[in-house]
Amino acid sequence: MRLRLFPSIYFLCFSVPYSFAFSIPSVPSFAAAKHLPHNQEPLREAFDGWIDREERISLDRLLANVKPGGANVQGNKDVVDGTVIASPSKEAPDYWYQWVRDAAITTNTLVDLYADSPSSQLSSSLQNILTAYARLQADLQRTPNPSGTFNDLQGLGEPKFYVNGSAFTDSWGRPQRDGPALRAITLMRYLRAYNASHPTLWSSASPGPESFYSMLYTAEFPARSIIKADLEYVSHFWNHTSFDLWEEVDGMHFFTAMIQLRALREGTHVARAFGDEGAARWYSEQAGYLERFVRRFWNKDKGRLVATLWSRRSGLDCAVLLGSLHGLPAAGEQEEPVFPPWADEVLDSLMGLARDMGKRFPINTLAPRGDGDSGNRLEGVGIGRYPEDVYDGYGTSVGHPWFLCTSSAAEILYRTASHLSATGSLTTTPLNVDFYAALLPPSSSPDLFVNTTYAAAEEPFKTVVERLRHVGDEFLEVVKTHVDSEGSMSEQFDRETGFLRGATDLTWSYGAFLQAVKARNKAAGWL
Ligand code: NOJ
Ligand code: NOJ
Repeated sequence: MRLRLFPSIYFLCFSVPYSFAFSIPSVPSFAAAKHLPHNQEPLREAFDGWIDREERISLDRLLANVKPGGANVQGNKDVVDGTVIASPSKEAPDYWYQWVRDAAITTNTLVDLYADSPSSQLSSSLQNILTAYARLQADLQRTPNPSGTFNDLQGLGEPKFYVNGSAFTDSWGRPQRDGPALRAITLMRYLRAYNASHPTLWSSASPGPESFYSMLYTAEFPARSIIKADLEYVSHFWNHTSFDLWEEVDGMHFFTAMIQLRALREGTHVARAFGDEGAARWYSEQAGYLERFVRRFWNKDKGRLVATLWSRRSGLDCAVLLGSLHGLPAAGEQEEPVFPPWADEVLDSLMGLARDMGKRFPINTLAPRGDGDSGNRLEGVGIGRYPEDVYDGYGTSVGHPWFLCTSSAAEILYRTASHLSATGSLTTTPLNVDFYAALLPPSSSPDLFVNTTYAAAEEPFKTVVERLRHVGDEFLEVVKTHVDSEGSMSEQFDRETGFLRGATDLTWSYGAFLQAVKARNKAAGWL
């Protein structure tokens, strides 16, 4: 089946047994837990303790879904090494696949860990995983599939594969052009991290033909050069439509464009480092066009970045938060970021989404958040994918909040707190003043004036930074409320009961939580 209405909504759950009525959570969680007033120290310590525990649980459960080593995959001969399953759930819903996107995002989280302590005990098993991941990606890139082949490059846009590495041939929303960009980003970060502890490899322009490096990047193309293949794909097809990260809409998407931009910018550096000047110039030129294109997602009338151009939807979408987070250059990737988490446009988009979700889901209105009376304030709520969502985790009915979206909202706020602390001042603008005003508590708050710069020593600055961290914690409080008693996350939690729904132990839910906690620790480091 090929639906090419543009822009179109294309629900992909035909093969998934619909079971609207059954979302039986194994262990109840509490929908109506109240959030912590920020001045109660013992409670705060308890929350910090939970964060530490849940961080360990998340890493364990994430690794359980990764081969080699993962408890949910290791004993299964069908699963090839290097596979990151989206979830161990094989039916209702069937997520027993490797999605290129989920795998790349998850592996990027593992690269972070590896980069943080390359000589730790964990890091040698991480290195095995990372190497296996890279080798499998080389095979997947070269596996003919319904999107195309390696020779015409189009095969790289295929969104998911069976766990044995073979092509999935049923109908699906394909191609999805974010996959190659995310994979390139992850492998380029691994290259940098690896190089930091093995410096000669990166700088010697021509590593031996058999080395792992030459498999990641070689100028000659098409050789077994995984990164270059993805960069070629991105640089040639970024201006074509594709299905979005939610696999539903064929069009031009903010998330896809943001990570493509990051991939091409970093790709320019990597190509240059390997003496591939011609490619570097080409990637840099395309990145320039793409940067201008990305700015078109700012919709002045709506006052937000929209997820998809020319779409009839509101544009409010957690994909915007994810685009900002995954599009943000990591340490070592030098470029000036476009729409980073602290950009006014991103913060406005977050506020719009949080307000919508705050009213949309009963769990958000039943449980008073923050310090009580809310008005138009920004407060931590359960965040779903987008207002118009009808995917309930099993089939289609109504949308629900997602763990990964809720954690992403927290991460945006923590990163903004760190950025302001590093900058040492806050300048209000007509674009951001509503956001910062909504962030402050209603009473006893300093007034914020537009077009004003507040220095780090001034009260409004301190309050804003403190509130960014606090409201970030409110979002993670929502996560805390809805994980089950073992600390497990699924894909979604029920909009009315708060119970887990959808794919169990969704790998990405754990990864997004780990990223948020990392950003939280960094923000705390500024205190
Ligand atoms: C429809 C959902 O909206 C989409 O995001 C998901 O990937 C597929 N069903 C498969 O579960
Ligand atoms: C549905 C999500 O919409 C999509 O982004 C994801 O790749 C798949 N589930 C697998 O987790």
